[in-house]
Amino acid sequence: MRYPLPVPDGVLSPATAELPAALGEHRAHFLARFGAGGGVRLFFSPGRVNLVGAHLDYNGGPVLPTAIDRGTFFAVRARADDRLTFASVLEKDVLSARVGDLPPAAQGRWFDYPLGVVRHLLRERERPAGIDVLFGGNLAVGAGLSSSASICVGTAFALDRVWGLGLDLLDLLAAALWGERSFVGVQCGIMDPYAVGLSRPGHLLWLDCKDGTFEHLPLPAGAFTIAVADTGVRRQLAQGEFNRRVTSCREIFARLGGYVDGATCLRDIPAAVVEEHASELDPPLLSRARHVTGEVERTFAARDALVAGDLERFGRQLTASHRSLRDLYEVSAPELDLLVESAVGRPGCLGARLTGAGFGGCAVILVRDGPREDLAADLAADFARAFGRRPAIFFFRGDGGPRELAVD
Ligand code: GLA
Repeated sequence: MRYPLPVPDGVLSPATAELPAALGEHRAHFLARFGAGGGVRLFFSPGRVNLVGAHLDYNGGPVLPTAIDRGTFFAVRARADDRLTFASVLEKDVLSARVGDLPPAAQGRWFDYPLGVVRHLLRERERPAGIDVLFGGNLAVGAGLSSSASICVGTAFALDRVWGLGLDLLDLLAAALWGERSFVGVQCGIMDPYAVGLSRPGHLLWLDCKDGTFEHLPLPAGAFTIAVADTGVRRQLAQGEFNRRVTSCREIFARLGGYVDGATCLRDIPAAVVEEHASELDPPLLSRARHVTGEVERTFAARDALVAGDLERFGRQLTASHRSLRDLYEVSAPELDLLVESAVGRPGCLGARLTGAGFGGCAVILVRDGPREDLAADLAADFARAFGRRPAIFFFRGDGGPRELAVD
């Protein structure tokens, strides 16, 4: 079986061209599992990488992500009865329940994400017909590439189409966010669903998380390629650590917010105010606050550099962001630090940092367009020397959000 795509020991080429074939194969899995017949619809929802603006979304700051050309696959068919089934080619557990009798709380299983989305979509709505959904995909799960937003946004998008709910994209993103935040219980900000839902190929998404306004910033043609190196480290504690960072930021704002007129989130607190009141924060909180103020400045600097076409300066913001995440926000891991320091300074590398929440997962490496196999090989060799195994290294293209694919 070619699909799901194996995690490679080396370099993968961009996946866009493989998508129709992979979805065709996904449909074959659906038919084998749910029975032959027509009416199967196929959807794709991308993952994302965030280039700058790390841990700013839940602080109301700006972020600069893009969707990527790997993500979640959905094969969907409406049923004549009222049974809903969620199965996955990547997981054993199956959710099967009547549409009117869905579990009211998260079950600690992979399907909590799409289940939360469905519960939100069906609030105050007539119950639609039952549905069979087979999930799959070609995105590393739990690696900081937003597999969870990919599945949540894609579920909202696909079910809206199949059930004919007629929702607009922002409503779908709200359902995706509710699924992850309120149903599963991760205190994430708006960045991931927005990046998955609103990105455009050839652009980075400038998203201001204070008010949800966004803009598509064009990338100079052939500007850079995004390489992602997966440490293979998946920390069980990551979700708890992430929520702890969110709580710390709330606490900092509770202490300092009163010093700035009209401030509504930590992003509104300037660095000078943090320094003036440094003695009111214990050392870890002071470090977290310094990361946030520095990262807001770096994200604006990255935007200016991109608009000016200065890719070197743009890349330097990424690397500075990583060092701040490592030293001040303390969400890095030795494997990530090694990948970043090994990449930075090699010919062709513009900058690098951890992506996603951190604690493991992936490093994103901005590579000047051109031959790059050498860089990937050197990185993998450095990593193998230190940790005794090779990281998977992917090259991504930007992508354009969730969509239905007609596959022959
Ligand atoms: C995770 C969260 C996002 C964001 C990033 C850090 O990916 O889901 O909302 O906070 O971490 O930038």
